[in-house]
Amino acid sequence: MKLLITGGAGFIGSAVVRQYIAETEATVVNVDALTYAGNLDSLAEARYHPRHQFVQVDIRNRGAVENLFREYRPDAIMHLAAESHVDRSIEGPAAFVETNITGTHNLLEVARGYWSELEGKDREGFRFHHVSTDEVYGDLGPNDPAFTEETPYAPSSPYSASKAASDHLVRAWHRTYGLPVVITNCSNNYGPYQFPEKLIPLMILNALEGKPLPIYGKGENIRDWLYVDDHAYALRNVLATGQLGRTYNIGGRCEHTNLEVVHAICAILDRTVPDSAGPYERLIQFISDRPGHDLRYAIDDTRIATELGWQPKESFDSGLQKTVQWYLNNPAWVERVRSGEYCEWMRQNYTNRETNTTESKATKK
Ligand code: NAD
Ligand code: DAU
Repeated sequence: MKLLITGGAGFIGSAVVRQYIAETEATVVNVDALTYAGNLDSLAEARYHPRHQFVQVDIRNRGAVENLFREYRPDAIMHLAAESHVDRSIEGPAAFVETNITGTHNLLEVARGYWSELEGKDREGFRFHHVSTDEVYGDLGPNDPAFTEETPYAPSSPYSASKAASDHLVRAWHRTYGLPVVITNCSNNYGPYQFPEKLIPLMILNALEGKPLPIYGKGENIRDWLYVDDHAYALRNVLATGQLGRTYNIGGRCEHTNLEVVHAICAILDRTVPDSAGPYERLIQFISDRPGHDLRYAIDDTRIATELGWQPKESFDSGLQKTVQWYLNNPAWVERVRSGEYCEWMRQNYTNRETNTTESKATKK
């Protein structure tokens, strides 16, 4: 089995690559442009494994994508490469349109041409697995039922709109051209090697440096958290056994407000590396909200659970504890990913936000 994995140097992609190399006999061709979010250090022991090959390619470059298929002739493609950060999409949507929509279109067209020339078992077995997000469904009120695969699309941010567009393209390539696709829509991931612009690693690292813990709005927004290795298992399961043309929602069965998440991180840090200046939650600071901020996401995972037998294994308590410990144990990785570009982003996103001192006093769990 030769798999072409796009975005394999990112947070989730690197977890998928590490699993395929450690737990299967698959050969992985890892295709990544190495943007600010891509880092070969995240591949750990998989990086120099004989069944792993890294190729630096930007999926916006159609010619380069054609060369990839010509040279590596994959049995399947799992497509994770994307611009993935909502706040960045608000600051600069163009890159999201180019990578998430045009990049996906390039992959679909090249994969279609390649697949149409395959024969027999190679043609039958070929798969295009598109990895997407629960954000395409928009947001939920506090008592709304969770997203199912039938929930209408209603994306709110430039990021989620670009992912929704890419999902539509993938479905259309299945229906119109018969390309053998599967699609997954997953909730918020957390775990080792996550770029520290996302909520959980940002809070861990800021707390360790005695910096403010910036919570948008009132911290009441709810996300459904899934440990990244559980997501990687689910992706492998869907690629291997998912029904053609079908969508599978993947979630953690683990809804928490952002404030609850930050309190949980602070409590772990208080136990693990107590700060003589006082409990870490003293650093919580409420700041002006993300524009268009989705209130709540929740996943109904009945389909993947009943049809494919997948369910998350890691509890939020143990997963968060492992994640905090990983960041404590890996300062060198953290240093390397915090480039000049990272500092520029932190300045841009947080400097001009208003601090809401009234909310800061209401740091209740
Ligand atoms: P990430 O930002 O950590 O990694 C994205 C990777 O894609 C990086 O390695 C980057 O270098 C690469 N990339 C970006 N633009 C590229 C381009 N033009 N050509 C080639 N490579 C490019 O993202 P992630 O959190 O690992 O997310 C991976 C995928 O999973 C994305 O498609 C995302 O939409 C989806 N997803 C993420 C989450 C989550 O919570 N992080 C949840 C559900 C779905
Ligand atoms: O739901 C799946 C999505 O989860 C993925 O598709 C995205 O790629 C991934 O980035 C993630 O999107 P979110 O916007 O939910 O993740 P983020 O970590 O940016 O924010 C989580 C919540 O925390 C959200 O409600 C915004 C809030 N937040 C975030 C940051 C960075 C803060 O309150 N303060 C912050 O500084």
